[in-house]
Amino acid sequence: MERDDTIDPSVTVAYGEVDFDTEISNTSSNPHFADVLQKSLERRGFLKGSLGAAIGLALAGQALDAEAKTPIAEELERNFLESIKNLGGLPTRPAFQPVPVSRPAFPNGVLVPLGYSVDVILKWGEPITGSYPAYKPDGTNTGAEQEQQVGQHHDGMHYFAIPQFDPNQRGILCVNHEYIEQRYLLPDGANLTQRDPDHVRKEIAAHGVSIVEIQRNANNRWEVVRGPYNRRITAATPMEITGPVRGHPKVRTKYSPTGTMTRGTINNCAHGFTPWGTYLTCEENWAGYFVNRDAQRPREHTRYGVATANARYRWDQVEERFDCSVKGATAADDFRNEVNTQGWVVEINPFDPSSTPKKRTALGRFAHEGAWFAPFRAGNPAVYYLGDDAQNEYIYKFVSAKPWVPLLTDPDILETGTLYVARFNEDGTGDWLPLDINDAGFRARAAAANVTFTDQGDVLINTRLAADVAGGTRMDRPEWGAVDPRTGIAYMTLTNNSARTAAQVNASNPRGPNPFGHIIRWREQNDDAKSLRFEWSILLLSGTETDSRNFAAGPEARLNTASIHASPDGLWFDRAGLLWIQTDMSGTQQSAGPFGENAMLAMDVRTGDIRRFFVGPSGQEVTGVDTTPNLRTMFVNIQHPQEGRPNDPAWPDGPGTRPRSATVVVTKNDGGIIGT
Ligand code: FEO
Ligand code: CA
Ligand code: CA
Repeated sequence: MERDDTIDPSVTVAYGEVDFDTEISNTSSNPHFADVLQKSLERRGFLKGSLGAAIGLALAGQALDAEAKTPIAEELERNFLESIKNLGGLPTRPAFQPVPVSRPAFPNGVLVPLGYSVDVILKWGEPITGSYPAYKPDGTNTGAEQEQQVGQHHDGMHYFAIPQFDPNQRGILCVNHEYIEQRYLLPDGANLTQRDPDHVRKEIAAHGVSIVEIQRNANNRWEVVRGPYNRRITAATPMEITGPVRGHPKVRTKYSPTGTMTRGTINNCAHGFTPWGTYLTCEENWAGYFVNRDAQRPREHTRYGVATANARYRWDQVEERFDCSVKGATAADDFRNEVNTQGWVVEINPFDPSSTPKKRTALGRFAHEGAWFAPFRAGNPAVYYLGDDAQNEYIYKFVSAKPWVPLLTDPDILETGTLYVARFNEDGTGDWLPLDINDAGFRARAAAANVTFTDQGDVLINTRLAADVAGGTRMDRPEWGAVDPRTGIAYMTLTNNSARTAAQVNASNPRGPNPFGHIIRWREQNDDAKSLRFEWSILLLSGTETDSRNFAAGPEARLNTASIHASPDGLWFDRAGLLWIQTDMSGTQQSAGPFGENAMLAMDVRTGDIRRFFVGPSGQEVTGVDTTPNLRTMFVNIQHPQEGRPNDPAWPDGPGTRPRSATVVVTKNDGGIIGT
């Protein structure tokens, strides 16, 4: 989702009325590196113009060379080659004819290259479990029915093969539902003055995750299997609090006086998965769903932007847990701490529908975009990269305490470990700084900043403050990450930042303001994912043909008609190493800019060959992508079609219907590998 400045004021509640994504919630006094960086780069003669800092980084990043392999990089590449053997060798990609900047017309509303076809599955409201209640196109499905149907506003997604079936014909799709639009979800929008209890139940049910078995049928179309794995996880599903925060005084509530349980996962943006077959769903803009009307509010509320007047959908009128004001004698008598049980990465076992999802608090609490692992290596820790999507927030890394042992993984390996925040130094090096109360350096910095943490649980509940203390680099809104399976080099989109001023630019965030965004990448020292040092460079600066850079294609190369884009958000390496980039421009950027509707591009990061592959329907965001293991079926999520475009035909059902977020299935007409 992205802020939309062109909201129709006649609608009851427009998603974009609240700027959920772009709050400047980092109020720390960390010095930006701008001044020292400028001086340093000028001294070395790197600055040749307004983008000099970025060019400088391209030079400084020479060490980040995928061809200069260490033994571990060679091992990664060997493993990678082994894993793609059954693809029939490495296809040359991208090799399709790029599609133009466009506003795709019906009947499809989606543009893909010549030789490709699309189908649509898992539309919001499609029944997937229970008594399979039919979707009612007038919005009159009840809350109980929504609990058995696909949620609204799809986002991150992963396809799991099921062991006993052909993995390319049948699997489990886990799909996040980031948020809702009441004007489409409910028959006549929402009465915010007096919330209808069943409307609130329906809204809560339309959040969360859909877990659904799908298969390719005899007509070669994908369809829902009414199978045993199907499940809806919602903003009301009971969940276990695990890790250092389990039982902490700041997560004790009337619902769980021991601080070990909570209900629901909220605003699930991107995702992750594990080699042991679990899905990770990540809680992003959860803070605004809660309200605290007290005059004095704790730092774990204020630092994250918990509402002070009205909660986003005013669920607190019906469910007291969304009101975090102090009302009772103790924390066990009210819900003052309920919001502290949100903001985590949640691990879900899609193969056991009776399992209780687990909040993995060791991975920190912030506006989690997603969780992306460094290639797993036997005997080494599990390593996940994490981003906090708000203006001037941080990039993190989690390193598990226990080693990963293939086929013998401790299912709770994500319960313990160390969380680090990234510092991107001016010279193309970087450091992972521990947020660990047992680390003497961290404790000293906290003392110097006059910040007190009672224990590691307190550090994690206040991860942003801990990162301020440690001295992380404030970034231009970290969205998705992706790790190259061939090299272990990690990439992350920095979608945009209207709040960064020209005086605040630094080497890793070289534009101020930054309306178009960029993609950064880093390589761990010695290719060891648990290293505390790394080298980094900028892959590309998104934007127009004149205001962009494609450093992978050369220090002076720019994006062209086949590749201009803005606000990169979704990012994903497929298993053969092609990078896919999805955009989330605001409504204004989509209607005013030269970029057309939100799109998805494919990029060879070794050559800089980048091409637009997919353009989505009016007003939507392209977010979430996966393929079957043979790379011949691609699933792409479309979120909030028709946002800000009330006069356009509603996607995917056409004029006169309600727009429905859904999953697009992309195949090549000749059955070939996607991207060729
Ligand atoms: Fe939900 Fe940061 O995008
Ligand atoms: Ca976004
Ligand atoms: Ca996103």
